[in-house]
Amino acid sequence: MSLLAIEGLFRHFGGVAAVEDVSFDLRAGEILGLIGPNGSGKTTVLNMLSGFLAPHAGRVRMGTQDITGLPPDQLAQRGVLRMFQMTRVFSRMTAFDNLLTAGMARGLTEAESGRRAQSLIEELTLGPVQYLDAGQLSGGQRKLLEFGMCFIEPPLVAMLDEPFAAVHPVMREVMANFIRSRHARGATFLLVSHDMPIIVDLCERAVCMNAGRVIAAGDIHAVLKNHQVIEAYLGETHAGEEPPSLEVRP
Ligand SMILES: Nc1ncnc2c1ncn2[C@@H]1O[C@H](COP(=O)(O)OP(=O)(O)OP(=O)(O)O)[C@@H](O)[C@H]1O
Ligand SMILES: [Mg+2]
Repeated sequence: MSLLAIEGLFRHFGGVAAVEDVSFDLRAGEILGLIGPNGSGKTTVLNMLSGFLAPHAGRVRMGTQDITGLPPDQLAQRGVLRMFQMTRVFSRMTAFDNLLTAGMARGLTEAESGRRAQSLIEELTLGPVQYLDAGQLSGGQRKLLEFGMCFIEPPLVAMLDEPFAAVHPVMREVMANFIRSRHARGATFLLVSHDMPIIVDLCERAVCMNAGRVIAAGDIHAVLKNHQVIEAYLGETHAGEEPPSLEVRP
């Protein structure tokens, strides 16, 4: 069943067509990968789906409701949240207080928010740094903290923009496990990442963009074998040449 139906989104910046006629479904309970080379329009799509950018054309539907162009706070109330490619935390507040504040901003009492913050701190392995200012944490720890802030009141849909980029492999595994555990509890994810092994590991389906358009969508293995997808990442292949695969085999 489709949770978000995205139909014909367009967004231009001056003369640059960042997103052109993008349509796909995000199904309830899935982790959908959104992949594509640099500059292909992935972040712009996430910005439109999460209310940070208005589409110039197209529709986003959630069930029977038209949610196109709603601002981020109204989408958050409906359970649609996103994480940024560049982490956003309050750097002069402790990690624990960032979580506490995020919970209270979502309507939890201080006591309930504190309980959830403590449990998230443990799950995200942030115990040793919980009383440091968030600005003192490593990039990976800040990302983990942002995961916690996003999930202190579990969203229906979480949109993640390159959560694994430049993160230590140990923390990357903590993040992947966190996504798996929330997925097992029913959360739906739209995951933007250049990390193909993690995408293959976490996603059954993917949408691939290039130059603002969707060039392939469906089963992850089929998408990664698609010739247009391989060409978009690696440059043109020539007739008769065996195309390389983007999949990393164990
Ligand atoms: N605010 C903006 N103003 C002008 N051009 C923009 C803006 N945001 C994005 N673009 C342009 O739109 C296109 C798509 O950018 P976008 O950031 O969505 O790509 P992306 O797929 O997320 O890339 P990356 O993998 O590098 O993060 C690019 O050509 C980019 O330069
Ligand atoms: Mg991006």
